[in-house]
Amino acid sequence: MNAKVLITGAAGYIGSHTAWDFIDSGCEVVALDNLCTGFREMCPPPAKFVEGNAGDAELLSQIFRAENISAVVHIAGSASVPESVADPEKYYRNNTAASLVLMEECARNNVRDFVFSSSSAVQHGTPGEFLDETMPTITISPYGASKLMTEQMLADIGAARGLRWCALRYFNVCGADEKMRAGDCKKNATTLVKAAMECAAGLRKEVRVFGEDYKTEDGTAVRDYIHVSDIAAAHRLALAHLAAGGKGGAFNVGIGKGFSVREVIAAAQKASGKTFPTPSAPRRPGDPPRVVSNPARAFKELNFRPRFAEITPMLKTAWQWETLLREKNGEKRK
Ligand SMILES: NC(=O)c1ccc[n+]([C@@H]2O[C@H](COP(=O)([O-])OP(=O)(O)OC[C@H]3O[C@@H](n4cnc5c(N)ncnc54)[C@H](O)[C@@H]3O)[C@@H](O)[C@H]2O)c1
Repeated sequence: MNAKVLITGAAGYIGSHTAWDFIDSGCEVVALDNLCTGFREMCPPPAKFVEGNAGDAELLSQIFRAENISAVVHIAGSASVPESVADPEKYYRNNTAASLVLMEECARNNVRDFVFSSSSAVQHGTPGEFLDETMPTITISPYGASKLMTEQMLADIGAARGLRWCALRYFNVCGADEKMRAGDCKKNATTLVKAAMECAAGLRKEVRVFGEDYKTEDGTAVRDYIHVSDIAAAHRLALAHLAAGGKGGAFNVGIGKGFSVREVIAAAQKASGKTFPTPSAPRRPGDPPRVVSNPARAFKELNFRPRFAEITPMLKTAWQWETLLREKNGEKRK
């Protein structure tokens, strides 16, 4: 691919992998990140790094004028469901309002192609074995609503201003770059995989299992886990699809297979060779029993083919990264 792409959030977990994927494919990358949760050193060195806010109109306009950007991959955002319940204004400001400014600046500066990090949270609460894009969108958190509102703005502004767009609804992203150039650096993460890795590394004492009385095979919640490098590749495929005149819209990007909390914990213990306590805890409000994708549209139209189809190989890369990170940070087991 021969393009110059602005990637927002490129110092974060998914953004850094996506930036590497584009660079590996021969693209030039301008990385915009305000480092609110990201890490400067995670941004791939070949990318041009700009520290700033993805909702800063003046800065965006400067970047678009100076860099001859042909497309935007908008990954920057705030990503915690519980935090969004406690602080909804932050989510509408950082996810929805900032995205509006970015879309307006794209339209003003003639940048036509836009790929957006959406989330399966726009369909949390939608009943069904496998979620596809034709099923209703129902959100049960301000986080999900902030993403869904952005999808709606893309549809409306896209139609009015000729912006071509794809919203990739990620399911649960995990793992790390196989070359160990990037991985999840978050501290006190709320995601199951990162918590399990920190536990295996001796940095947490336990992983609590929220709810063991769901109507699922082992009673714990079931999710679709996708490797971060596969999600990264989906952005490149989405942009290539738009550039070739393909139809945009929302794409559910998962592997189409569910793993329960207990299965993920067993895989984390296997991948790391460590055991740790996993006490039961009450269900968390707003946690649906089952969220699994039907990724058929992404397979058919984007030619998306995840390389990782099983949870243990995904978690082996997460464990390798966790070990490396702890060595780098000089952290010791408690
Ligand atoms: N991790 C998942 O499983 C998952 C699932 C679905 C969707 N998503 C979405 O993917 C995106 C990335 O998630 P992540 O897990 O990599 O999180 P992350 O916190 O590691 O990365 C987000 C990055 O965006 C930057 N950022 C945030 N707000 C910004 C702003 N206004 N301007 C510039 N930079 C800003 C942060 O500094 C950080 O580097 C988020 O939009 C999230 O909602 C993540």
